[in-house]
Amino acid sequence: MKIKTFYIKTFGCQMNERDSEIMAQSLGKFGYQPGTDLYEADLVILNTCSIRAKAEQKVMSLLGYLRKAKTKNPAMRICVAGCVAQQEGGRIIKRMPHVDLVIGTQNIYKIGTLIEEVETTGKQIVTSLEDDYVIPHVLPEIAITKSNDSSMDDSIAPPAYAKFVTIMQGCNNYCTYCVVPYTRGREVSRKNNDIVDEVKVLVRSGVKEITLLGQNVNSYGRTNKVSDSATYNFSNLLRDVSQVEGLERLRFTTSNPKDLTDELMQCFKDIKNLCPQFHLPVQSGSNAILKKMNRKYSVEQYFDHVEHLREYCPEIALTTDVIIGFPGEKDEDFDATMKLLNDVRFHGSFSFKYSDRPGTVASTFEGKVEEIVKSERLAIFQKRQDKISLSRNQEYVGTIKRILIERCGKDGCRGRTDTNHIVHLENCSELKGGEMIDAKISHAGQHSLQGVTSK
Ligand code: 5AD
Ligand code: SF4
Repeated sequence: MKIKTFYIKTFGCQMNERDSEIMAQSLGKFGYQPGTDLYEADLVILNTCSIRAKAEQKVMSLLGYLRKAKTKNPAMRICVAGCVAQQEGGRIIKRMPHVDLVIGTQNIYKIGTLIEEVETTGKQIVTSLEDDYVIPHVLPEIAITKSNDSSMDDSIAPPAYAKFVTIMQGCNNYCTYCVVPYTRGREVSRKNNDIVDEVKVLVRSGVKEITLLGQNVNSYGRTNKVSDSATYNFSNLLRDVSQVEGLERLRFTTSNPKDLTDELMQCFKDIKNLCPQFHLPVQSGSNAILKKMNRKYSVEQYFDHVEHLREYCPEIALTTDVIIGFPGEKDEDFDATMKLLNDVRFHGSFSFKYSDRPGTVASTFEGKVEEIVKSERLAIFQKRQDKISLSRNQEYVGTIKRILIERCGKDGCRGRTDTNHIVHLENCSELKGGEMIDAKISHAGQHSLQGVTSK
């Protein structure tokens, strides 16, 4: 029997990256093996993102190319998974009739069965969101794999010794610009024991670092029961996971500032393997805009959080997300965002031009900011951030940092500090992925550091 191959192209966030791993594992049980070429695979899966229009356009243009590949090889099966699949559903098949399966964010666990159904019935299938969804408990079987597994898109693939674990799905916050509540459904948390079991399996197979994933981890356990204790929350989960023997580093993402508690901030002081790094999206430095975004916190409250975090953990590296040019953003609102950037001096940030998403409240707002103005403001913001990142990075020069090695090759070694800074090592030899070493930081760039090790 001919072995069938699959190729998964992942767009978007870490959540999608983890979902792609789950689909790969599920397909293995149905006799599929990872292929090396998107256009030659028997099953092509595009795991898509719809957070901004650009991400969605990329998917549509790739589907156009795949139409040609399928004309040459009619046995090729094409699956659109993830957020675009969830939002567009059957409309994808109307626009792209060569697509065989449209599989929403909750149905990735069923990919094997669904693709079999496509094969036996010859019919196209479209899945939809469920109201009473429970995240299935699937223990990872993967041992350490290469960081850039050829069947996955390697741009956001996590290094082999650092893995993502999904702790919750969906979001109930309805920030006015955001499609996530529509593409990932209502917020559901996984049981604490399932999460701890998954972490144990990963650590036993050699994983050193775990990042817990959710759209808003601070509200873990709020909408459904996750343990015997009615008050079990994200801080409890962090403490439980941190105690898994052999786990060197623990991280989490993402947090909404409105739900950030003192109890959680205290964890940075108490939990030894919780990395001193925090991604806390602020989105805007203007209270008027935050209100229109339905973020439910003020700039002053955000500052308070930053101050407290730095009290609990002085070495903490803070990063953020910012949306530039939200409807109604005036010069003074943008100036307020610049002031926030200058005052907090984030170690790094992800900044995006506001993008209208269908179905969101903000897409109906008046006062849309012109594209050219958005671009100008974004350039100003990013230029300033680059300067700040460089000066932040320069603070590390001369210090000794513990590095988790990700890969080591002819062109040198690459690893990460606990603050999540990438470090290129100059003079190392024969270090292995997953090894932890000390290195002296010798040079700082805007986006990475260089280090020297005696190993
Ligand atoms: N336009 C621009 N950026 C957006 N984000 C979410 N929705 C939009 C949108 N409609 C950004 C936010 C979020 C990050 C993941 O993507 O900053 O934190
Ligand atoms: Fe989107 Fe807001 Fe939920 Fe984050 S918290 S996923 S920005 S709705």
